Amino acid sequence: MDAFPDEVTVFEVGPRDGLQNQKKTLSVKTRIQFIDKLSAAGFKYIEAGSFVSSEKVPQMANTDQVLTGINRHRNCAYPVLTPNLQGLENALNAGATHIAIFGSASEQFCRKNINCSVAESMVRFRDILQAAKQHQLIVRAYLSCVMGCPYEGEVAANKTASLAEQLLTMGCYEISLGDTIGIGTPGQVTKLLRAVKAVLPVNKIAVHFHDTYGQALANIYTALMSGVAVIDASVAGLGGCPYAPGASGNIATEDIVYMLNGLGITTKIDLNTLLEASYFICRELNCSNQSKVAVARQSL
Ligand code: HMG
Ligand code: MG
Repeated sequence: MDAFPDEVTVFEVGPRDGLQNQKKTLSVKTRIQFIDKLSAAGFKYIEAGSFVSSEKVPQMANTDQVLTGINRHRNCAYPVLTPNLQGLENALNAGATHIAIFGSASEQFCRKNINCSVAESMVRFRDILQAAKQHQLIVRAYLSCVMGCPYEGEVAANKTASLAEQLLTMGCYEISLGDTIGIGTPGQVTKLLRAVKAVLPVNKIAVHFHDTYGQALANIYTALMSGVAVIDASVAGLGGCPYAPGASGNIATEDIVYMLNGLGITTKIDLNTLLEASYFICRELNCSNQSKVAVARQSL
């Protein structure tokens, strides 16, 4: 077991993962207001949207307008998802400096999500990495379904580890391991991280937990004990993937920040400012807040 990291980067995915599966599609203006409120809370990374097919994910249409409309903070990057070269070109035109590619450790999820096999996706990603290098773009990678797939069930840890290693070799600066359907438990997290840390330095690993089975906070605590210092989270616990039926939202950012504060781990995120963004977005979406901390503070 490693020591806890002194400082943790909480990587906010609310404006992308949080909104991409909502019944209500928000206006560009509201998405911009949401990101601006999050920027005020002190994040280093706020995922701003996706350059994907607007027929498949209408909630993420007009991400170019969002990216050009936000008030970019100097110390914050605003990554966007780019599944292919077309997405990359659109991201570049909108002034993106950080992008994320998203693959899968499971074959069937990969096909449903981005319409190609895992092997084909790696070829696409290589092309994206080459083009990104020419434009000095910083590239993150996701691997989905690392704890299980809605279509295939169990996913082998060594498959995730091998793909993560390939993505790092291609030039991604960090690999985010996604429990897309929120099914994993702490024992599984320990095993997976052992396999991935055998091929990747721990400072190249991020974790991305959805909270369907209520295990996300325990899983994150386990990842912290393994030395992982980058945690993906979504304000108000929003989130879900159109291709992961039944999956709930991500771990709520407020809840992870509260826990990290309690552990004395620095995040540089202001919880009260974050809560303002949380209440704002729930009002706009007309949805209930999935953050326990946000609900507790609201009733004070
Ligand atoms: P495709 O159908 O294979 O693409 O889509 P294609 O090259 O065959 O082209 C078909 C049409 O799509 C063409 O338009 C293209 O122009 C258009 P048409 O000629 O028919 O009018 N097209 C695009 N349009 C906009 N942007 C693009 C683009 N590419 C092609 N980049 C594609 C492939 C990946 C685009 C599609 O399957 C898609 O958009 N999928 C949605 C993927 C997605 O957003 N999933 C959710 C995010 S992943 C996630 O949530 C998991 C994560 O959170 C981690 C975790 O939780 O585990 C990251
Ligand atoms: Mg996700």
